[in-house]
Amino acid sequence: MSGYSEKNQIFIPPAELEKQVKFTSLVHTMLASRYPDSPKAFVHTYGCQGNVSDSEKIKGQLKKMGYSFVDSPEDADLVLFNTCAVREHAEDRVFGNVGALKPIKEKKKDMLIVLCGCMMQQKHIADRIKRSYPYVNLVFGTFAIHRLPEMLYTVLSRGKRVFEIEENAGTIAEGLPTERDRGAKAWLPIMYGCNNFCSYCIVPYVRGRERSRLPEDILAEARELVASGAKDITLLGQNVNSYGKNPDCGVNFASLIRQINDIEGDFVIRFMTSHPKDCTYELLDAMAECKKVARHLHLPVQSGNNRVLAEMNRKYTREQYLDLIAYAKKRMPDLSLTSDIIVGFPGETYEEFLDTVSLIKEVGYTSLFTFIYSKREGTKAASMPDPVSYKEKSKWFKELCDAQEEIAARRTASMVGKTYRVLVEPNDREGWLTGRTSGNISIDFEGDAALIGQFAEIEVTEAKTWILYGKKK
Ligand code: SAH
Ligand code: SF4
Ligand code: F3S
Repeated sequence: MSGYSEKNQIFIPPAELEKQVKFTSLVHTMLASRYPDSPKAFVHTYGCQGNVSDSEKIKGQLKKMGYSFVDSPEDADLVLFNTCAVREHAEDRVFGNVGALKPIKEKKKDMLIVLCGCMMQQKHIADRIKRSYPYVNLVFGTFAIHRLPEMLYTVLSRGKRVFEIEENAGTIAEGLPTERDRGAKAWLPIMYGCNNFCSYCIVPYVRGRERSRLPEDILAEARELVASGAKDITLLGQNVNSYGKNPDCGVNFASLIRQINDIEGDFVIRFMTSHPKDCTYELLDAMAECKKVARHLHLPVQSGNNRVLAEMNRKYTREQYLDLIAYAKKRMPDLSLTSDIIVGFPGETYEEFLDTVSLIKEVGYTSLFTFIYSKREGTKAASMPDPVSYKEKSKWFKELCDAQEEIAARRTASMVGKTYRVLVEPNDREGWLTGRTSGNISIDFEGDAALIGQFAEIEVTEAKTWILYGKKK
């Protein structure tokens, strides 16, 4: 396997992965005798694209063990939730949904319940599952995904509950089977973990240290994806701008996207997430010069106030952020910008919040992902005084959303009459399709389902605040 060296403990040794292949076939044999019609699995993913990408690897491994996939837990022999810990709300939903499995399992005693992902990587959560949800069979954290065959083998052969949440420095397992189901769109993880420790964020605690896949492994996977029909590839990492530092790959993110851009074929390259502190003019130049790179930059600002940014440990100022935006717009006048914002960080005042409102007006984002601050146990911000009530924060939140709605409405209105090249995706409405522009903006139009997965030219005919309608040229 490429990239493995004795010195470097980041990469899981080939022998360990081969061991898992052996467990895969042992489980396959056991399941084949228990379920003559092939066992069924229901996999549900919470959280970010990184988790969705992990679930593709989990499903890839389950498929090799003989599972096929169903859309509801009632029909499943194995239910797996891949969980997220980023906000309290995400965790509450998981507990609710695990509770709802109890009556199903009472009727179906052989059903296996598996919980994994970021939430499970926290000891207090795993302990609560152990204590209060005795019908859960297997719990594993983010560091154990490649050992799913072995863990499942232990559960099946010994009938024991298994809890695997041990942390390590963070590893990379290359070559795991992957089950993708996004049609012409694909996730391509280029790195894992995070070293930034933004003071509100749980991710560095549950995902371990930042580590990059080797460029040759990424390029090989990108080539395979393009050869198998992918038309829209999103490079994933918590902070893609610091790609290539650990291990030192000799290739930074700007040069990585140039190399992917050089792969033959008609496809779009996207990436997320960019951290402003590591976003360079070099990267923006590479974006501008690479024809296949989408005209979309997701550059989370979190706050428009310098005191709050410092308390958040974001390591840039409002002025530095706006300077990057100005340069990006200069190089790419048609660039679509999006961001994440946290409202009500501990100690934030209304005046400080207003700096965020003024910033979003100045930038003119296409859309925003807005969140009310959620306290995460173990993070630095969790011990900061937080005097503003949730009710008050909700008012600020609404004020921010209203301001963004106006900005978005102006932007969508300005698109009417223009023609965009889009990748065609399915739409729930009969006879309708959705096209995604290079700026990651959706346009609904009537058309033949045979267009799905292809590029088409769509003229925008009507704009509502969030939805655009168009017709095929
Ligand atoms: N690595 C990415 C973001 C990962 S989490 C980045 O740095 O931008 C996605 C978003 O969730 C963050 O950008 C932030 O806006 C939000 N978020 C993270 N922790 C949060 C918390 N404790 N409360 C509310 N929102 C949070
Ligand atoms: Fe969380 Fe900050 Fe890392 Fe993003 S960069 S995952 S917000 S710690
Ligand atoms: Fe959630 Fe983990 Fe992603 S905490 S946002 S699933 S990295």
